[in-house]
Amino acid sequence: MFNGKEFTMIRRPAIAAMLLTLSSYSLLGYMAAFSHKAVADPESDRQAMRAFYQKRFPDIAPEAHKDGVYAFDENAREQWLELEDFPPYEIAIDEGQELFESPLADGSNYSDCFGDGAVKNQFPYFDEQKGEVITLELAINTCRSQHGDQPLPYDGAEITRLTAYIAFQSRGQTIAVAEPANEGALAAYNDGKRFYASRRGQLNFACTSCHVQLAGNRLRAEHLSASLGQVSHWPAYRLKWQDVGSLHRRFARCIKQVGAEPFPAQSKEYRNLEYFLTYISNGLPLNGPSIRK
Ligand code: HEC
Repeated sequence: MFNGKEFTMIRRPAIAAMLLTLSSYSLLGYMAAFSHKAVADPESDRQAMRAFYQKRFPDIAPEAHKDGVYAFDENAREQWLELEDFPPYEIAIDEGQELFESPLADGSNYSDCFGDGAVKNQFPYFDEQKGEVITLELAINTCRSQHGDQPLPYDGAEITRLTAYIAFQSRGQTIAVAEPANEGALAAYNDGKRFYASRRGQLNFACTSCHVQLAGNRLRAEHLSASLGQVSHWPAYRLKWQDVGSLHRRFARCIKQVGAEPFPAQSKEYRNLEYFLTYISNGLPLNGPSIRK
């Protein structure tokens, strides 16, 4: 499946050494995947990313990365498909639907803001007037305040059930974030891109270290997924969490893993990161909610 390339098991102390000895192929690919031109060009980034992973995974279509590591880890894929027979996220969808249809303070409900809930491909987007990235979670709280209700805590059970229902209703839509066109949108995009490529923590790792340079390799028991598709399937029921959790919760997990301080869910940092990652995943299907280890 990997064209005869070797994929070795990496142990924690060996990671730093491994990064130092990465082949020039990886480094060139990394540079190609992130062009640091004076004038940022998101569409070139997106195409470079797709080209990079196509070279890294010649047998895998870029769209297949919607399944994360299950796109290339065959053993894990089988177990995962078995779990999908009785998906543990199903209860969250049902509870989310109930919440979605329950009255808000003024008697209306979420369908007033989101119709039948098939709206996930409208997020995130850059709101020029507000000057910030609007995620689905932000829009849910805006909807609540428009209808006289208190905001929900981000990352709490209620908002995650609502996003599970909305993700389910939106299955099969294609990720289609508009190309950042104005100064504010470009700044937010570049901020997310910089965040993704910045080294942090005791391990001094960037997101790119694991998910670009080492994508497809093993880190202890787990393969490392490609950046393409990292945003397509949220919220995810993680066996580790025994619950559905948000993309931003996953961001926090990866940041803690390298020994750095995470940001709160829906912080500007994470929203810009989500904006960047979703833009470069344009063209992939939305397939949430999902199951992950
Ligand atoms: C030390 C390596 C490492 C670093 C650095 C790292 N991650 Fe991860 N990440 C993992 C592992 C291991 C997993 C679980 C396997 C997988 O899905 O890739 C994971 C999973 C993810 C997932 C879920 C993928 C899916 O299919 O559900 C996202 C999203 C993610 N990481 C984002 C990030 C972001 C953003 C950063 C930078 C802030 C980052 N990661 C940094 C190791 C890392």
